[in-house]
Amino acid sequence: MTATAVPSTPSPSGSAKPAWDKGLANTIAAETEMSFIDGGKGILEYVGIDIDSLARNSTYEETVFLLWNRRLPKKDELAAFERALRAEYELAPEIYNLIATLPKSTTPMHALRTLVSALATVDPTADDHSIEGSQLKALKLVAKTPALIANFDRHRSGKPFAKPDASQNIAGSFLTMLTGQKPTDAMNRALDVCLILHADHGLNASTFAARVTIATLSDMYSAMTTAVGTLKGPLHGGANEEVMVMLNEIGTIDRVDAFVKAKLAKKELVMGFGHRVYKTTDPRATYLKTFSKQVATDTGNEKLYEMSRTIEDLMAAEVGSKGIWPNVDFYSATTYHSLGLRLDLFTPMFAMSRMAGWSGHCIEQLRDNRLIRPQASYIGPHAAKYVPIAER
Ligand code: ACO
Repeated sequence: MTATAVPSTPSPSGSAKPAWDKGLANTIAAETEMSFIDGGKGILEYVGIDIDSLARNSTYEETVFLLWNRRLPKKDELAAFERALRAEYELAPEIYNLIATLPKSTTPMHALRTLVSALATVDPTADDHSIEGSQLKALKLVAKTPALIANFDRHRSGKPFAKPDASQNIAGSFLTMLTGQKPTDAMNRALDVCLILHADHGLNASTFAARVTIATLSDMYSAMTTAVGTLKGPLHGGANEEVMVMLNEIGTIDRVDAFVKAKLAKKELVMGFGHRVYKTTDPRATYLKTFSKQVATDTGNEKLYEMSRTIEDLMAAEVGSKGIWPNVDFYSATTYHSLGLRLDLFTPMFAMSRMAGWSGHCIEQLRDNRLIRPQASYIGPHAAKYVPIAER
């Protein structure tokens, strides 16, 4: 039954009935000053600056400042912002205790969702909705998420907890906690670039979910918990992990052709391809392709890169004309694998970065808030009789 076939609730404002827009693909539901996307031309800008230029020249910390302040920082401002972040790296003892109680079989995204939520329990200002209070919570969330992910991974691997390293940037401190060793500059930069590329992306599903939650005047921790849960799905952030599962399943380049063609013939998804907004190559994928080649070569994973490139070429020939091109998740899988990250940490890496975009959007929402409450078109029966249970 189509949505227009039945009478629906009139618009609360008394105006014309709202249009039904499955998947909200043609609905503008928020204003933002942070990122601009032109899906037809393959453009992504943060506050007007092209993503390629940021990936080449910026750092994650500088990019977060840019997103939150709508301008690049001066040298002393960036130093002060980095100090403020580093002062918030550490977790409360209660959070380490909680990590220690999680079953080791928990997947990292379930653990992260639980732990982000738990941060509220040790923040007495969790329900402070002021802009300043929300900005402080945004800072804490960006600063603490790396320690949540790394220490959950250590816990499940039977390793002792590792404290964050406030002498390093977010990427360096995270990799040091995770592996127990300070990363090389190249590894640090590789993760830093991935963090820049994932920091914000318009009103994607998880950002929308975060804005819906904060718009009820719930709290920042609840909004970030909502967002982590939404990102987890394989149609969204969970796709980077699925890409790696697929690459492992294919195994060797000579099997690419048969694998991809069989998937398409069965109308199954090839993960890491397609995007709601981009109908050409996702510009983040363009940069990551070149970057992942370098990281893969440096770490002896050339074959993985070559296999990814072969899949891309085949998909371009088979479904490029339908607007299905690589998205950010496709080459980030090769990059994360080359960095030595376990497969199920790929999506948490996305969350670690996107915490900046999610929280920035929540503050934008709070600055000009209105409850987000769309309508559903009722397509069930009317005037149905209540039948007592004994008579059913
Ligand atoms: N592989 C094969 N076919 C695809 C793919 C794909 N990856 N993506 C889309 N298609 C096909 C669909 O089957 C559909 O075909 P049809 O017209 O014959 O029915 C057509 O392209 C249109 O696809 P939709 O699902 O309508 O596109 P939508 O905008 O709703 O979905 C989405 C976008 C969810 C990203 C989709 O492309 C997909 O599932 N991709 C794989 C998962 C993935 O990589 N997700 C990460 C997205 S990026 C991110 O969230 C960070």
